[in-house]
Amino acid sequence: MSLRKPAKDQPDKFEFNSENLELAKNIVKNYPHGKQQSAVMALLYISQRQNNNWIPLVAMKYIGKLLNMPYIKVYEVATFYSMYNLTPVGNYFVQVCTTTPCMIRGAYELVEACKEKISKNQNEVSTDKKCSWTEVECLGACVNGPMVQINNDYFEDLDKEKTLKIFDQILNNEQLKPGSYRGRKSSEPEDNRKTLLENKNA
Ligand code: FES
Repeated sequence: MSLRKPAKDQPDKFEFNSENLELAKNIVKNYPHGKQQSAVMALLYISQRQNNNWIPLVAMKYIGKLLNMPYIKVYEVATFYSMYNLTPVGNYFVQVCTTTPCMIRGAYELVEACKEKISKNQNEVSTDKKCSWTEVECLGACVNGPMVQINNDYFEDLDKEKTLKIFDQILNNEQLKPGSYRGRKSSEPEDNRKTLLENKNA
């Protein structure tokens, strides 16, 4: 499991650019009067997108002021959910699921691959600034574990060797192929169905 700590080096300033400010105001309008704090998750996500995929503490303070909510409450939300990055990440951001179903199928081999090819410690950007990695909880693709998410795509049915090859492709700027690395479509069984055989559409 990833230890979630804010980055040591923090910028002094953050505010939404005009486009994101407009977007934030429109999101806030979706909530009834007095309930504008419910927009906090969406606003945190927008701030992350604007700030190279991570959220500095000043952005949490800024959002607190915008939503008229205490900074500590924004901080609690941002530090709870692993989809919010609290430290800078690489252009290729690798999230390795190490929750039980993936773990018993070899997720820690993928962690080894990350340590070998990206950086010794998680939440550390590689020396060429291209990649970073972190451990996360279940990403909802348990049937195809072990798996990693790289930016917005899932790479499934992996082992250490296949994961190292994917990282080599990243380093060589090659096109990545998301999906199963054992040739499965979605979460289908590998050797045809074994249950519900009487139901053609199952
Ligand atoms: S346990 Fe890894 S995706 Fe669910």
